[in-house]
Amino acid sequence: MKTETLTVELAERRYPIYFTAAKDALKTDLAALRSGGRRVQVISDARVLHAHPNYLAQAGFEDSEILSLPAGEPTKSLQYFSQSLSALANQSANRDCALFAFGGGVIGDLAGFVAASYLRGIDFYQIPTTLLAMVDSSVGGKTGINLPEGKNLVGAFWQPKAVYIDTALLETLPPREFAAGLAEVIKYGLLADSELLENLFALDGLAADSPELPAIVRRCCAIKAQVVAEDETETAQADGRALLNLGHTFAHAIENVAGYGEYLHGEAVGIGLSLATRLSVALGQLPENEIARVDQVVRQFQLPTQLRAPLRVGDLMAAMQRDKKNRGGRLRFVTMEELGNAVTTDGVDTKLIESLWRDAGAS
Ligand SMILES: NC(=O)c1ccc[n+]([C@@H]2O[C@H](COP(=O)([O-])OP(=O)(O)OC[C@H]3O[C@@H](n4cnc5c(N)ncnc54)[C@H](O)[C@@H]3O)[C@@H](O)[C@H]2O)c1
Repeated sequence: MKTETLTVELAERRYPIYFTAAKDALKTDLAALRSGGRRVQVISDARVLHAHPNYLAQAGFEDSEILSLPAGEPTKSLQYFSQSLSALANQSANRDCALFAFGGGVIGDLAGFVAASYLRGIDFYQIPTTLLAMVDSSVGGKTGINLPEGKNLVGAFWQPKAVYIDTALLETLPPREFAAGLAEVIKYGLLADSELLENLFALDGLAADSPELPAIVRRCCAIKAQVVAEDETETAQADGRALLNLGHTFAHAIENVAGYGEYLHGEAVGIGLSLATRLSVALGQLPENEIARVDQVVRQFQLPTQLRAPLRVGDLMAAMQRDKKNRGGRLRFVTMEELGNAVTTDGVDTKLIESLWRDAGAS
């Protein structure tokens, strides 16, 4: 089968994303690394390796090259960062070692930061296994870990050399995790592509084996690739890469206040997308009837638009103030001027945000 690719255009750091026949591309690249005398190492998690016990071997990796870490967000920590670096050092891995991430966003973020840090940077490759990682975290080069003080507080921009997207890997993904990834898909439609959004409206649902899925994943990657190529390190004064945070200022506050793990990230994003739409309406950017449309598409994919249990408005507002995306002490939001066209909006009245939180079930 011919491999379909898309290129993330970042001059000398440009890289391909492989879609159909991604496993063949992986096999070929791995063989080329080996024939160049390069050492390879994989970081994965136990749940992914259990779900896909033969995938890496079929691509040409050996068991001794795979570091299996525990599944889950706590693995994105200093402890496993340190353990992964030691594993490389203990094997005397040198600068020409290539590190592969085989997993979801947790493994991708951790392994990417390991690759960025070990010997001041070694080559890094992504084999995403969750929908979220395929449409979002594996592309764009944001890597990092959490501190006890907060999420993603340490990290680096470190672009992969290639991304291999094989949607067949999603067949073992639990439905709740799959739905969480769909929140990011809806986000892309809302921020940049009304046609993608119309396609989502027309679907009954979406699953790992849906024939529509590969094209949708590819479209999301194309949007992310373009945004990243224009503003790689999120330094644009307005819009730019920050637009990828549509719904996320609300979502991060929910995750932070409810306690990490209570809501999957994508579930919090579902509520965040609904709130970002309500904010856009309140600011006069969108007509009121768009609220019902956005809520419909979020719910259609088994995601919430309201808090499951009340959280305190004061706590949510305090969490928002700490958001690292804020500029000059002012709250920064991403809003929509129409569905499919997002903008950054600064200096929103905090009273308005408080009332939106109440509408979403906060107390
Ligand atoms: N770097 C970025 O740009 C970026 C963007 C968005 C999110 N993130 C980060 O991504 C992380 C969340 O990623 P995630 O949602 O992929 O979570 P995850 O990596 O924890 O994966 C979710 C769960 O699914 C399991 N799993 C993964 N693939 C599977 C498969 N194919 N079959 C069965 N089980 C499988 C994992 O073991 C885990 O238990 C967060 O830490 C977030 O901060 C990073």
